[in-house]
Amino acid sequence: MSKMIVVTGGSKGIGRAIINKFAGIGKNVVVCARNLADLEILKTEVEEVYNVTVHVFKADVSNKEECLGFIKYVNDLDEDVEILVNNAGVFVPGSIHNEEEGAFEMMMQTNMYSTYYITRGLINKMIEKKEGYIFNIASVASFVAYANGGSYAISKHAMLGFSRSLREEMKPYNIKVTSVMPGATYTNSWAGIDLPEDRFIKSQDIADLVFSAYNLSNSAVVEDIIVRPQLGDI
Ligand SMILES: NC(=O)c1ccc[n+]([C@@H]2O[C@H](COP(=O)([O-])OP(=O)(O)OC[C@H]3O[C@@H](n4cnc5c(N)ncnc54)[C@H](OP(=O)(O)O)[C@@H]3O)[C@@H](O)[C@H]2O)c1
Repeated sequence: MSKMIVVTGGSKGIGRAIINKFAGIGKNVVVCARNLADLEILKTEVEEVYNVTVHVFKADVSNKEECLGFIKYVNDLDEDVEILVNNAGVFVPGSIHNEEEGAFEMMMQTNMYSTYYITRGLINKMIEKKEGYIFNIASVASFVAYANGGSYAISKHAMLGFSRSLREEMKPYNIKVTSVMPGATYTNSWAGIDLPEDRFIKSQDIADLVFSAYNLSNSAVVEDIIVRPQLGDI
């Protein structure tokens, strides 16, 4: 039976780059996002280029019921999950003392709660098989304080804590957990900004780092990946 990579929010940006990388070594893919048309385009393109199967599912991961729907969809597929990438996320800059009402709930639900629900929903089969790899796409905002970090930074700090705890829990089960903490990476998240593209990290760089961590021997785990723009944070 072949093994799949599951990527949340994989129709664009960093998630999409990671999908391309793993499809390139023949992994079948499961991916969710909110926009079904984008998912269908991704499916057509990736299946054609890499000759793998791409399963797409429309879900807004800020909603618990939709996370549970995605988990059921994945678990009902006749293939094991080898790699889970908790990538879907949203960044609204702000400050704790005056960001919009609801910003905290929205970013915690999208970035952190979804990671918790989807991991719990998919990890039991990995535990049974004693095999798996979980990448949590956090941020430099997981460990640095920025004045405009607000609830985004809270949610990404939480993701770092989540990864640390889960890694300890999963050691006996041969499941690796890596926090990926990029600085500014050129994706739609930065649409409209008046800076050259090469001032940013490329999504491809993140995908290459994730792939390198995945390729280490069973004896080693990359706990944290920290990567920043060469000229510093934006
Ligand atoms: N870009 C950066 O500078 C940067 C830096 C550090 C960390 N990160 C983290 O990297 C991750 C990916 O960011 P990105 O910059 O690649 O984003 P992006 O280019 O804006 O793409 C986001 C992807 O997630 C999906 N998505 C967004 N909200 C979703 C939701 N509620 N439910 C399901 N899917 C959702 C989007 O599709 P739909 O819109 O169709 O849902 C899209 O496929 C995020 O967790 C982000 O916090 C990014």
